[in-house]
Amino acid sequence: MKFFIDTANLDQIKEAQDFGVLDGVTTNPSLMAKEGITGADNILKHYVAICEAVEGDVSAEVIALDFEGMVKEGEQLAALHHQIVVKIPMIKDGIKALKYFSDRNIKTNCTLIFSAGQALLAAKAGATYVSPFIGRLDDVSTDGIFLISEIREIYDNYAFETEILAASVRHTMHIINCAKIGADVMTAPLDAITGLLKHPLTDIGLKKFLEDYKKGN
Ligand code: E4P
Repeated sequence: MKFFIDTANLDQIKEAQDFGVLDGVTTNPSLMAKEGITGADNILKHYVAICEAVEGDVSAEVIALDFEGMVKEGEQLAALHHQIVVKIPMIKDGIKALKYFSDRNIKTNCTLIFSAGQALLAAKAGATYVSPFIGRLDDVSTDGIFLISEIREIYDNYAFETEILAASVRHTMHIINCAKIGADVMTAPLDAITGLLKHPLTDIGLKKFLEDYKKGN
């Protein structure tokens, strides 16, 4: 399973890259705003800075909601850097834009997926990635992980090449459950990724090893 970091914070992106397990980055307009990155020019510059800080795919979201606007913005984003993946919302014109970019070998990430039917449509249109938002489904008492399993089954039935990018991942159990089900990618905040490191028995065991080493020296 590929690990993407879900942030626009450059320090965290660099820390995850140094950690050695990072395969890419996802951003969205809310994550950009959280970092105080506003205005079209600053946002575009920030995408380039992210691409230069990491190896792997970097999702950059279009703001337009109509086909022509998405194409124009998506082409501008894709021209910024070869690592850019154009992030397109799951709406009717978004499906048309996914097909447009797929036909031109430009990578896409279909965002705001909340049902298996939406994921099926995005795959039919040739999306590179689909992003089911598991945390937001959990927030409304709906099993986000179950949606991942439904999409996995559908994609495997027909050998769709679209990758399942589990998004809105909030904690380490989400990551583990995504890996058990066979999500191709998960995107999470840095603390959820580093949370995988933690186990009290590791800490206790390490402390004992070091104490015993000192006894013999
Ligand atoms: C990433 O592509 C999504 O935009 C992001 O994971 C959404 O996460 P949230 O539901 O925690 O805002």
